Amino acid sequence: MREMDLASRTGPRIPVIIDCDPGHDDAIALMLAFGCGRLNVLGVTTVAGNTTGENALRNALAVLSLIRAAVPVGRGADSPMLRPLETARDVHGESGLEGLSAPRPELRGSDLTAVEFLSSALRQSPVKVTLVPTGPLTNIAIAFLAFPDIRAKIERVVLMGGAAGEGNRTPSAEFNIMTDPEAARVVFESGVPITMVGLDVTHKALIYPREVEALRESGRVGAFAAGLLDFYSRSYRSKGFEGNPVHDALAVAAVFDEGVITTRHVRVDIETRGEFTAGRTVVDFGGVTGRPPNARVAVGVDRDRFIAHIMNAIAALDAGVWRDARPDRM
Ligand code: RIB
Ligand code: CA
Repeated sequence: MREMDLASRTGPRIPVIIDCDPGHDDAIALMLAFGCGRLNVLGVTTVAGNTTGENALRNALAVLSLIRAAVPVGRGADSPMLRPLETARDVHGESGLEGLSAPRPELRGSDLTAVEFLSSALRQSPVKVTLVPTGPLTNIAIAFLAFPDIRAKIERVVLMGGAAGEGNRTPSAEFNIMTDPEAARVVFESGVPITMVGLDVTHKALIYPREVEALRESGRVGAFAAGLLDFYSRSYRSKGFEGNPVHDALAVAAVFDEGVITTRHVRVDIETRGEFTAGRTVVDFGGVTGRPPNARVAVGVDRDRFIAHIMNAIAALDAGVWRDARPDRM
């Protein structure tokens, strides 16, 4: 592990809540969040998206159990706000996490639902919290609608989702936004500061086979991560990708290392009605709409820097360093 990385582990930790739909890249995002040593993960909430709500909870518990991260896990929405759930089983498999020969979850979910956890954790936090949604925005939207006051306790929402360019679920729309466009509209119009980490950068931040092999040899957690990426790479290889886009992990990296991406502060509107364009993030780089900017949209990425964060975080999880250096958990 690089000296810089170790030194940076003892600084103040950014309080975050991760809302995810594991999902292979969500699993890598959780490993990065806990292993990077820069975040204080207050809790995890799960949402239906890549897989069912039940699978998302079970998969999140399995990954957290694997990395021995004991934090509250709140189960969230089993379906989008207004639309039927259409999972991505073609990418993530029936269980949502095919390829993870993980131990039976030792952890169990919180007694609080995702929305209850989000509202209570934000209200109780003495400082503003960064939300990191890596799935459909259903839980976040419902929380904002049910408890509008919590928006004042949010530092920013750093989300994986959307695309200024081509989509991946339809030619127009990225999966997370497409799954629940109405929820995305609530979040993008909430007034809360947003950083949008979309396909424009995640499709450039691929992890390559040689790096997966390095993970496989790096230790217990690394071997699990490599097993996940083996399965996950199948659908991307069939689409001509030379590596795996670990979409969600880039949103996590952007929280603690803002320099890993470059952004532009522009207007983003969510299409909810188009027959062929529903779920599109309409990014107004030219300012032609005259509507006020509402999101920092990622337009560039330092892939090597990003992958180094993942490698270091997983090495730290295997070495147990992330626990020792966590002053708030001594
Ligand atoms: O489009 C990629 C996003 O959809 C990622 O969050 C992936 O996990 C899926 O949820
Ligand atoms: Ca996801």
